[in-house]
Amino acid sequence: MKSVKVGIAGLGTVGSGTVNVLKRNARDIARRVGCPIEITHIGARRDNAACDTSDIRLSRDIFAVATDPDIDILVELIGGIDTARELVLTAIRNGKHVVTANKALIAEHGNEIFQAAQDNGVDVAFEASVAGGIPILKSLGEGLAANHVNWLAGIINGTGNFILTEMEEGGRAFDDVLAEAQQLGYAEADPTFDVEGIDAAHKLTILASIAFGIPLQYSKVYTEGISRITIEDVASAAHFGYRIKHLGIAKDTGNGIELRVHPTLIPKETMLSAVNGVMNAIMIDGDAVGPTLFYGAGAGAEPTASAVVADIIELGRALTVDYDERVPYLGFHTDQMSDEPI
Ligand code: HSE
Repeated sequence: MKSVKVGIAGLGTVGSGTVNVLKRNARDIARRVGCPIEITHIGARRDNAACDTSDIRLSRDIFAVATDPDIDILVELIGGIDTARELVLTAIRNGKHVVTANKALIAEHGNEIFQAAQDNGVDVAFEASVAGGIPILKSLGEGLAANHVNWLAGIINGTGNFILTEMEEGGRAFDDVLAEAQQLGYAEADPTFDVEGIDAAHKLTILASIAFGIPLQYSKVYTEGISRITIEDVASAAHFGYRIKHLGIAKDTGNGIELRVHPTLIPKETMLSAVNGVMNAIMIDGDAVGPTLFYGAGAGAEPTASAVVADIIELGRALTVDYDERVPYLGFHTDQMSDEPI
């Protein structure tokens, strides 16, 4: 293979970050894959001045990318659910591997998508769907694969953590900080996903599936957001030595897996309470390794692109291996999962 050919659907914050990282680090990436990665086709409703696409074929119809016979990998960065689902299934049926940053899509339709991928002999990679640039899914699925996970808990929505931090440290109003998070490209297209805990619930669904080998069960997550937290709540927590953090928690109770996202009072001296702004942090407690902590930017163009491009590199390498001989992406094949109740 002379090069791995990539098509990108969506040229927003993460799409432009992905183009920039692939171009800027092209030599390092080619060395790691064994051949160059080429972006040959982008589908987007409009151009984005944040990246140079002058040498790339552009289509206004994103489905033209998913069916382009020349591409090996489709990168889905349009967000949302219905069109993204159709796009990804179209790419899979056309024999493309898929990379996506779309946590809503994976959490709500992942079981169907992984089955389709298996039926068509392709892979779907989704590292960027959880915690932006932190390689948390690969850490769970590979680095900690020897462990029985007892529990995991983390700050997994950057926008929410940015809002809580600014309310506490700057005394700023909720709506004012949310508007800034939108401007910075941290928030979802529909920011109620961030402030009502839906985005965190999507991410927890994915984390739990990999940590505990259970099917994706988004509807089972107890979900509460930060929209009713006031500056007075934050100040009074601080007065008593606590900070309010929005956590996602998945725990093996011995009688099933408990899944919940909600605001939590955390003592000020603990590590999670020191995680500020758009940063995310996830603690994982494994029976062999004990407690571990993963920290990094949870949103934003290039931190998220870091995870998207890592998946492109991994799939690029796998393109040189027969499908039946390769290791499934993070062991994420639906027929290998337990039906453990939650
Ligand atoms: N809106 C998300 C967040 C983006 O703020 O965490 C990254 O998933």
